[in-house]
Amino acid sequence: MEYSTKISERMWNLPDKGELEAEREQTFIDDIVQKSHIEKELLSSLDGIETVFDGGGGCGRFSILLAKQGCKVTHFDISRPMIDKAKELAEKAGVLDRMTFVKGALEDLSAYEDGTFDLVMSFDAPISYTYPKQEKTIKELVRIAKKRIIISVSSRLGSLPYLANPLQKNQFILDPECDNDWVKWCLESRDRMIESFSFDKQKLTDTYENGLMCDIEETTKAYDNGEAPWCITYHFMPDELKSILEDCGVRNISLAGPGAFARTIPNEILVKIMKDPEQREDFLEFCHLYDSNPYVCGIGKDNLFAKGELA
Ligand SMILES: C[S@@+](CC[C@H](N)C(=O)[O-])C[C@H]1O[C@@H](n2cnc3c(N)ncnc32)[C@H](O)[C@@H]1O
Repeated sequence: MEYSTKISERMWNLPDKGELEAEREQTFIDDIVQKSHIEKELLSSLDGIETVFDGGGGCGRFSILLAKQGCKVTHFDISRPMIDKAKELAEKAGVLDRMTFVKGALEDLSAYEDGTFDLVMSFDAPISYTYPKQEKTIKELVRIAKKRIIISVSSRLGSLPYLANPLQKNQFILDPECDNDWVKWCLESRDRMIESFSFDKQKLTDTYENGLMCDIEETTKAYDNGEAPWCITYHFMPDELKSILEDCGVRNISLAGPGAFARTIPNEILVKIMKDPEQREDFLEFCHLYDSNPYVCGIGKDNLFAKGELA
């Protein structure tokens, strides 16, 4: 097994992972915007779709949504806690009978024949965690799709600003009083982050060129020491992702950058919009329109979204 797969498996198998992922949308506005974008895309792409594969389905944000629409969904993930959480939420939603849960790594999809699923999807970067096999993983996902593929991967242009703005997540905190450890950490460490920050041109340039934010040697060393470091993640450029999909025969490809518009708005204004149900709905609809413009696809929250047709 590749180091990156082992590192990813250990991190995503941490016992509280499923629970933490399941509450993301209650705490960060950029997650709300990204989820809303993907939901809108999925719900408008279901004509002729009966069977679905969700690669790295996590706690079921999108697999359960499609099971609720009547699709038969294979929910595939490397992490047992994520699958357990997804099962619990699927049962609550009353769709357990339309879902199959499989524990596995996207690096090996040999169990599935060509064109097994009408729709193949994978959201919020599982493909990026298969580095250095990210390209082969996309090819395999396309191979097992019959009609449509919809994915989001880590975006290089979208993620690079994080390296020059350690406060970026603070911009998206919905409720500073909430009982979430990450929110607390963002607020408590704000001043420290500013004080210790210095602009590292070399690091940004390296990431711009190779698509990797972490130091692979340091990450593997941490893994060998028994730690659970963040996965080695490959960040794609928009034209790179498009040409990989085209090479596999995907047509009518559209790219988007969920979160690009929200990024331009300060926290105080974002919170005001989110707290008013009518403005919130209008805002999420406008974000979807703006973020779907191909000229901003690289600069979404941190994901690059792609949709294309096979048949
Ligand atoms: C950020 S979560 C996204 C979950 C879900 N797609 C969503 O958007 O809510 C990433 C998920 O990918 C899974 N994952 C990471 N590496 C994987 C791999 N190599 N094969 C399969 N799943 C993987 C993790 O366990 C985790 O559930």
